[in-house]
Amino acid sequence: MEFKNIFSEAIINKEDSKRASMIASKVDLNKVIRMGFNEHPYGMSQNTKAAIYEASLMGNYYGDFQASKLRNSIADNYGLKIENVIMGSGSSAIIDILSSTFLDKEDEVLMCRTFPAFIDMAQMRQAKPVILPLNDDMTYDLNGILENINSKTKMIIICNPNNPTGTYLCAEKLEEFIKKVPNDVVVVMDEAYIEFATAPDCESMVKLLREKINKPLIVLKTFSKFYGMAGMRVGYALADETIIKEMQKCSLAWNLSRPAQEGAIAALNDVEYYDDVKNKIVEGRNYLSRELGELGCKVYDSQTNFIYFDAHMDSLELVSEVVKRGIIISSAVHSRVSIGTKEHNEKFINIMTEILRNK
Ligand SMILES: Cc1ncc(COP(=O)(O)O)c(C=O)c1O
Repeated sequence: MEFKNIFSEAIINKEDSKRASMIASKVDLNKVIRMGFNEHPYGMSQNTKAAIYEASLMGNYYGDFQASKLRNSIADNYGLKIENVIMGSGSSAIIDILSSTFLDKEDEVLMCRTFPAFIDMAQMRQAKPVILPLNDDMTYDLNGILENINSKTKMIIICNPNNPTGTYLCAEKLEEFIKKVPNDVVVVMDEAYIEFATAPDCESMVKLLREKINKPLIVLKTFSKFYGMAGMRVGYALADETIIKEMQKCSLAWNLSRPAQEGAIAALNDVEYYDDVKNKIVEGRNYLSRELGELGCKVYDSQTNFIYFDAHMDSLELVSEVVKRGIIISSAVHSRVSIGTKEHNEKFINIMTEILRNK
């Protein structure tokens, strides 16, 4: 059936979303080791799982409509107030909220190569994503961004550490950059992976919110990565209360389930478990970086739970060769592999050795 004249101009003109990986849609994800989506191989803590189970027993009742208990826990964690926190079902939902809160037709959204959801976000409102190349070392080009700000620029996206490259920008450079951005340009810091960072100068920009910097700065966070709750869908943004108030107008009502809320609160309190898991991820990151380097790949320094590397072969071909052998990884110009358990990582290196030897 052909439906005419029902779709918005923005959607008719919008490219298909890049969020769904083409290869992943052809693969039975229950039959492969998942090292393609930056998920957490160790899973949620026992306390988190117990809280989710307990909350599910009350599943016939709506949860806390304002997610107040969770927002208070998050605010306490950062030394902010509940009014500085907005929740979404994943930070993806917050990215959608950014679109309806801030963007109008023909606004420009400035970013370097990063998480593709930000392209969708711009196009959903007929705004224009302006995507600058990364520096040669795959870091964000902050000078390039400053040089490209013009009267149409409405928003700047900085993902730190960045996906898909895993590279980071030091706090000093970032602070200096944010202070130079004009006050009518929204700076969005996506910190989805920052909890995995070990570099001492890789710091959250939440501190600028605590210092009450007079800039429209929004920091995005998620429980999907470090807390291993990707399937539970919990993300949030932190910003000045006047900004959060407007964003709340664009939020889906009651967008966090009762188990998601209770699970996230339990996860925040389970510091010991998640610290231990971080150590394992960092060990896996060091192992994979070293081994891929020894196999002749160009490996970029990662502060995340994944590694970006150039195996000097077509990255889509590499994905299909690896998937044939039971592991899914990802392609984004070069290749990206998420850190798995020790067994997953070793299996991946064995597969890579076989593929690269026969290349
Ligand atoms: C940089 C970045 N931001 C946001 C997200 C969205 O995460 P979620 O919607 O699971 O919170 C992802 C997911 O991979 C990501 O890589």
